[in-house]
Amino acid sequence: MFKRLQNKWKVNNLQLVLIISTFAVGGSSTGFVAKKIMNALPINQDWIWVTVYLLLMTIIWPIAIIIISIPFGQFPFFIKYIRKIGNKMGIGVPPSSKMNQKRVAIFASGSGSNAKKIIDHLDGNPRVSVELIVTNNSNAGVLDIARKNNISTLLLKKNGVFSSNSCINELKMAKIDFIILAGFLWKIPGALIKEYPEKIINIHPALLPKYGGKGMYGHFVHEAVIDNREKESGITIHYVDEVYDHGKIIFQASCPVLENDTPATLAKRIQSLEHEHYPVIIEQVLRN
Ligand code: GRF
Repeated sequence: MFKRLQNKWKVNNLQLVLIISTFAVGGSSTGFVAKKIMNALPINQDWIWVTVYLLLMTIIWPIAIIIISIPFGQFPFFIKYIRKIGNKMGIGVPPSSKMNQKRVAIFASGSGSNAKKIIDHLDGNPRVSVELIVTNNSNAGVLDIARKNNISTLLLKKNGVFSSNSCINELKMAKIDFIILAGFLWKIPGALIKEYPEKIINIHPALLPKYGGKGMYGHFVHEAVIDNREKESGITIHYVDEVYDHGKIIFQASCPVLENDTPATLAKRIQSLEHEHYPVIIEQVLRN
């Protein structure tokens, strides 16, 4: 039974224990609080007592579960869980807007700090839902982020396989409408771009068209910017086409390059810009 739950909720052993503990503590706190309130109410008739008690339990339970889930570190799971129940009961997101919800996949190869900011920013958005994390790196930090947020993952094994249609099929099966690249290091194959025209966006840690292209990623970008004594650098959010870092630019933001900057200090400044702007721009693009 526990294995079934684990598969259904896509969680690991520890998370399952924490979730069950949250249910247990949340459930008993609900009973306790409801009983206390009932004792304070002057209700004599049994059937009214039972009705009010059940009503109170229904209201208190989701609140208790959400509060208890915070110290257990399971807030993202329970907020989704409660929302799903709400949807099933016809409260919360109405079914029609759920049908119009854009389903997003995030492609990332590394730590996934941008992916995390995007997931957090879009959490609870009735129009957008991050449904899939795609990576080519089985050790990518982004996989942990996916697990913590109960988002399905797809591990791409070989670049050759990625170029075939199998990835597209997986995306179609997951009904993905839009793709966000957040530090994904493989080149996106033409077939995928054709399948998602102007529906794939990327962020680059420099002011394109300068410092883009093959091999220009991570510290290589910042090293080149510093070596060329640039006075400013920044971020570029752009659509993805078949040439590296070349598609139509959606947004740019800049920051100074300081005299004593190292690639690491510059990277930090650029990362703050990315975290500040990427989630917001994604939301705007998806809204339009
Ligand atoms: C970011 O610097 C982004 O500009 C580039 O890849 C990096 C991803 O970083 N495309 P993180 O894994 O999101 O921290």
